[in-house]
Amino acid sequence: MTNRYAVVLAAGQGTRMKSKLYKVLHPVCGKPMVQHVVDQLNTLDLKELITVVGFGAEKVQDQLGEDSHYVIQEEQLGTGHAVLQADDILADREGTTVVVCGDTPLLTGETLQKLIDHHDAEKAKATILTAHAEDPTGYGRVIRGGNGQVERIVEQKDASEEEQAIQEINTGTYCFDNAMLFEALKNVSNDNVQGEYYLPDVIEILKGRGETISAYQTPEFSESLGVNDRVALSKAEKLMKRRINEQHMRNGVTLVDPDQTYIGPDVEIGQDVVIYPGSVLEGTTFIENDAVIGPHTTITNCHVGAETTVKQSAAADSRIGARVQIGPFAHIRPQSNLGDDVKVGNFVEVKKAAFGNGSKASHLSYIGDAEVGSGVNIGCGTITVNYDGKNKHLTTIEDDAFIGCNSNLIAPVKVGKGAYVAAGSTINEDVPSEALSIARSRQTNKEGYATKMKSIKKD
Ligand code: UD1
Ligand code: CA
Repeated sequence: MTNRYAVVLAAGQGTRMKSKLYKVLHPVCGKPMVQHVVDQLNTLDLKELITVVGFGAEKVQDQLGEDSHYVIQEEQLGTGHAVLQADDILADREGTTVVVCGDTPLLTGETLQKLIDHHDAEKAKATILTAHAEDPTGYGRVIRGGNGQVERIVEQKDASEEEQAIQEINTGTYCFDNAMLFEALKNVSNDNVQGEYYLPDVIEILKGRGETISAYQTPEFSESLGVNDRVALSKAEKLMKRRINEQHMRNGVTLVDPDQTYIGPDVEIGQDVVIYPGSVLEGTTFIENDAVIGPHTTITNCHVGAETTVKQSAAADSRIGARVQIGPFAHIRPQSNLGDDVKVGNFVEVKKAAFGNGSKASHLSYIGDAEVGSGVNIGCGTITVNYDGKNKHLTTIEDDAFIGCNSNLIAPVKVGKGAYVAAGSTINEDVPSEALSIARSRQTNKEGYATKMKSIKKD
């Protein structure tokens, strides 16, 4: 097999986005556009992947990390000039180079593979990925000769009225014979309306030399959507959302209303999971079989166990066991680890806390920086007093302890195994195992006092 390389164009400023965020870093379904592109390219067997960066170079490099090599395009003189920046690394190599724009987030690895297969089968020196667009405005148009052969691409701004009527567009994705690409790029001029060095001009140059030029037309126009402004960004979001949601539904997940369900590209969901509207599943989240999520629930980077229910709640960077009941209106903050059969009920906030199997905090509590054993019952209104204004301290509640309602546990503190804390207690010393701790003032009843008060006449 010939060596394969890829160049991702990501140096443009993205003026039309009118944003301080660099264009290719705008997220689609939670993942930056350029990351979508690189992830799809990485499904191909590549020897080298190079991203051309310019504006916001460091931020793009931070995002892609070691997924790519980088070359800098100091001045954005056009897509042809951008590819030429990879000259030092690629020019002398034998093989096939795929060029993709960093602003086409919907492009799939399968379509790229079909493009390469077509290129190989046709023994072409350049193959353009084209698509039929209902509204081709803004895209380069594919000009074919009388025999149907591709001759050149003309940009919207350079196109005659007749050319503008052509609906076959250049998706901005190509396959080239590597050596010929770099050789031809040196002959691209900037003699056009925008004064830019256009990559598509390579097609005309190679054609002029009698080389074989081919085009592979994908039936999926939606994949070629180029995001130049926020209207297109919202279209990309919608298309990607639908693609992701349909994939999950085909895999056996029930989305009660897919239009109102937002699932990130790296989320994994097991069979017979039911997701109610208004749910947002983000990052690297994994939901196991038969869980019920939502309505109105946000889960970010969590592992959620089988048969667990999360209603009207938010959870982030945490592990949640099987058959757990969360919400409505609970907040699971980072570094929490809930065992199986746990209950975290309404208006309970959990932060950096571990709950052993079967433990419950059913109502109105704050449990932060805590290690809670198994079989623990935390009464309504319990607060772990974890912060002294400077440092955070740990609360330990051992197995089978029972914390009465409205208790304050002033950390660092430990409640021993099987111990009881009486309701309304403020605990600032460890409670021994199996003890009952009462830490509140004694009640005094003044018999008949109320009647006496009522009998005192007002002036
Ligand atoms: C480009 C194509 C057009 C095609 C369309 C598909 C050219 C001249 N035109 O137009 O035929 O239909 O994509 O979406 O190639 N970039 C750089 N450096 C530069 C200029 C651009 O890295 O100097 C990068 C941008 O960051 C972007 C990509 O190249 O990711 C495409 O540039 P853009 O300006 O969006 O080109 P289009 O006008 O969309
Ligand atoms: Ca574009």
